[in-house]
Amino acid sequence: ESIAHATSKIKNKKILITAGGTKERIDPVRYITNDSSGKMGYALAKAAALAGAQVYLISTNASRVVPHGVKAQYVQSALEMQQAVKKIFATVDVVIMAAAVSDYRPEKKWSKKIKKGTANDLTDLKLVKNPDILASLGEEKQHQYLVGFAAETNDLETYANQKLTRKHADMIIANDVSKQELGFNSDFNAVTVLTHSSKPIRLPVAAKSQLATKIIDLIAQHIS
Ligand code: CTP
Ligand code: CA
Repeated sequence: ESIAHATSKIKNKKILITAGGTKERIDPVRYITNDSSGKMGYALAKAAALAGAQVYLISTNASRVVPHGVKAQYVQSALEMQQAVKKIFATVDVVIMAAAVSDYRPEKKWSKKIKKGTANDLTDLKLVKNPDILASLGEEKQHQYLVGFAAETNDLETYANQKLTRKHADMIIANDVSKQELGFNSDFNAVTVLTHSSKPIRLPVAAKSQLATKIIDLIAQHIS
């Protein structure tokens, strides 16, 4: 199947994309987050919009320019992101979870700034696990095509394949984050695309914008 023909399958499809690292509040001046820049999610939103999809972006990063034609909504925490995703999940055809969702959040959010040397000093900050948004979509999905990422420093394809199965995803974009110059915050990346129906597709180092176009093409080839 030619790429041009496949990409036309994306036209008018509703695609939900999450982007950026979630922020998990400790108090009004502190939070826990990660190194995700949101670049890959925004590049995917742009590529999908250019292919004629209706794109909804749920982002943690309000300072980034929203690609033309994309509807954006901003959230901070994993719980807020999950709520926003669930609200429109039933109406979309494809979900791409490009966000780096924090695995943990503080057990409690303090309404006032925590002061050093007081009883609630942060030296014993307690964390609890966040829900796995992608895995919960995997349990609920009907017609939706689910795409996740896997950020790994080692045993990339093994761990990524486990995520494909465990989260009931249809595609995993595996991302080697052991190399400082690639991945998080870089304009470049190299990924391996895993699905249930084809062999791993290795996309070598390229600009995130170029990779995004290829990933949207691959998604188009897989959706009916
Ligand atoms: N993800 C999610 N909700 C979470 C954690 C991750 O939806 N609470 C999604 C991410 O958006 C990504 C995929 O799951 O699409 C894989 O994220 P990753 O951090 O690589 O995997 P985890 O399942 O969190 O496992 P670990 O960090 O232990 O490798
Ligand atoms: Ca994680």
